Amino acid sequence: MSETNQNQTQQAQPKRKRILSGIQPTGTPTLGNYVGAVRNWALLQKDYDCLYMVADLHSLTVREEPAALRRRTRELSALLLAAGIDPVNSVLFVQSHVPSHTQLAWVLACNTQYGQLTRMTQFKDKSAKHPDNVNGGLFTYPVLMAADILIYNADLVPVGEDQTQHLEITRDIAQRFNNLYGPTFTLPDGYVPKAGARIMSLAEPTKKMSKSDPNVNSFVLMTDDRDTIVRKFKRAVTDSEGSVRYDAANKPGVSNLMAIYSTFTGKSMEEIEAEFAGKGYGDFKLAVAETVADALTPIRTEYSRILADKAYVDGVLKDGAARAARLADRMVAKVYRKIGLLQPER
Ligand code: TYM
Repeated sequence: MSETNQNQTQQAQPKRKRILSGIQPTGTPTLGNYVGAVRNWALLQKDYDCLYMVADLHSLTVREEPAALRRRTRELSALLLAAGIDPVNSVLFVQSHVPSHTQLAWVLACNTQYGQLTRMTQFKDKSAKHPDNVNGGLFTYPVLMAADILIYNADLVPVGEDQTQHLEITRDIAQRFNNLYGPTFTLPDGYVPKAGARIMSLAEPTKKMSKSDPNVNSFVLMTDDRDTIVRKFKRAVTDSEGSVRYDAANKPGVSNLMAIYSTFTGKSMEEIEAEFAGKGYGDFKLAVAETVADALTPIRTEYSRILADKAYVDGVLKDGAARAARLADRMVAKVYRKIGLLQPER
């Protein structure tokens, strides 16, 4: 291509929108994390400039053994790479490696009302779950999350449904700041998948699938092997009706399995109902399990390979942190200037 043509092509291309999302290193991610978020992170890379983050600071809100936190942070990074996060075209980094996030979080905390934070359902749920450790970090958790997003002027945030309230408060914080100090932050939109925004527990399908559930049969981990996946789906709680029909209110177990199957096959609920008409739950559960195992097996294999190369993973994270910090530091400097903090001599 000649230089003139190249320039024309560059000019014709609109600026790509930016994505930021994160996941906590609190345990091995489940199928819920994959379907609700990580799978989309990988898919969206072709159309967006993406930053993906291991939210280690957020995980400090629950007490964690230091060695386990360190190990899980590296493991989760390797798993994200195995799931298709491209460390060259996207930026993969660890939250605590980019100190500007916490610097911005303080400024945003001073612009967020106590009353608004008390209304966060996740704060209420987590306080009820850990009454012995209702710490300040748990309370200001959404402010740090707002900083993670706003510091990059992210346009889109791919998350599962449980994070949508945190996105709403992020938009509120951004809007209020922009009104006070002039246009500064982009108001981000959520990207929540149609099917699979809330994958439910296989044992109690009215509860969200969660890696912290004490019942290991309630979740499928992203690293589970085929036999384990099949065994867990075979045990999944359904109902006594015996027909594969989508009805989330009255048939939560079957509807959850249908949502999972739909995500991986791209089939609509009607198509799935037609496929399993006249068949029993046994056939259906096996089909769901096989589809999930087919999707997760290559990730699992790749995960072991990548994790064995610790230097590679650490190198990716070092590069990611440097690239993220270049953007984040600039935003913090801009915000500090706008709110009137005296700039130090450089
Ligand atoms: P975390 O680590 O709890 O979960 C990571 C992502 O997985 C989604 N998810 C689910 N989706 C569908 N069904 C489920 N059962 C399910 N369980 C989890 C979550 O919605 C999430 O998208 N606060 C965030 C981490 C974070 C963040 C951010 C996210 C920190 N900073 C900035 C976006 C932007 C969290 O705890 O995710």
